[in-house]
Amino acid sequence: MPDRHALLTGSTGFLASHLMPALLADGWKVRACGRRARPDRFPDEVDYRSVDLAEPDQLGGLYDGVTHLFHLAGASSSTSTDEEMHRFNVVATRNLLAAAPPGLERALYMSSTSVYGEEVQLPVPVREDVQPSPSRGYGKAKWESEQEVWAAAEAGLSVVVLRPVSVFGPGNVKLLGSAVLDTAVEAWAGLDALAVHDRPVEQRLVHVEDLVRATLHLAGHDTAVGHAYNVVAEEYPSSHEVARVLAGAFGMTVELHEDPDGGPAYDERAALHREMLEQGMQPDILLTEQRFRFMRKSNRNNRLSIDALLGTGFRFQHGDLEPAIGRTIDWYRENRWVLTR
Ligand SMILES: NC(=O)c1ccc[n+]([C@@H]2O[C@H](COP(=O)([O-])OP(=O)(O)OC[C@H]3O[C@@H](n4cnc5c(N)ncnc54)[C@H](OP(=O)(O)O)[C@@H]3O)[C@@H](O)[C@H]2O)c1
Repeated sequence: MPDRHALLTGSTGFLASHLMPALLADGWKVRACGRRARPDRFPDEVDYRSVDLAEPDQLGGLYDGVTHLFHLAGASSSTSTDEEMHRFNVVATRNLLAAAPPGLERALYMSSTSVYGEEVQLPVPVREDVQPSPSRGYGKAKWESEQEVWAAAEAGLSVVVLRPVSVFGPGNVKLLGSAVLDTAVEAWAGLDALAVHDRPVEQRLVHVEDLVRATLHLAGHDTAVGHAYNVVAEEYPSSHEVARVLAGAFGMTVELHEDPDGGPAYDERAALHREMLEQGMQPDILLTEQRFRFMRKSNRNNRLSIDALLGTGFRFQHGDLEPAIGRTIDWYRENRWVLTR
């Protein structure tokens, strides 16, 4: 097989912590970038460059020898303002694509299903060829970034766009990761019951290994070029079902509440969190001010079509979410990202 050389942006982030080893195991050469200094955990064979993609003069030599771009760098609302999201998604993508050499074989962009938005009712299940209507800063930034990608496609670049939902798995510090931390904090407090809003909200999730497999699959699939692909598990659990899995893993039961803000207040949770850190818990998972932040948002466009992805021959391996979430919680425990008394 001819040399395949990946440029992996966002390499210091969650998704890339799974994609990088998968690329190496599959025989790719990898040049990786992020803004921070080279992480110690990166294998020697990875050529790492520290660059801010929003600064076009920092991109020199980044593509030397590269055959495929895997563009994962980006910023989300968990840690960034709207202005930062614009700069680190849209401006960064524009700069990166402007520097792409004519011989680049393929550019894969990690977009998001947040581009569809939740204010305008779209035909459901939402197909990739609808006109998106993003509602919030993050979705708007990802959609504007996609416009940069589609413009590059018009100019002749072979592009593939992935649109994953909330991704979970080992190393995830936001979203479901934060919900696991919320549960661990309350179990640490000695509570037997996990308070959850009585109005169920349908969730959509995908395991990081399935997303990595879909990315590699589409990188080599001939007919994928010029298309976008939703990536979501076929099962849509309710917030109550997810809460039961979380509660069960920490020996608790779910208690339904009329008040969406039922359960301990932020100050109390933050104090317990500090205590856990003092007891040796790793600080990686984000403690959100709002409990179960990611499980609260209902979305009229929640259901997504995955016919396009399945049509390429791709099959999910972690479609059964309950055991997949359970294994993720085991990983957090083993790595002391959460503590149990
Ligand atoms: N995680 C999810 O559930 C999910 C769902 C849908 C879509 N996505 C998309 O998938 C991509 C990866 O997500 P993730 O969860 O792995 O993100 P993450 O953990 O927050 O990592 C973000 C990465 O982007 C890099 N980055 C940000 N701004 C940059 C800039 N200006 N120049 C260079 N590098 C920059 C960061 O580098 P440093 O930290 O070194 O600065 C880091 O490596 C993102 O584009 C995200 O929008 C994620």
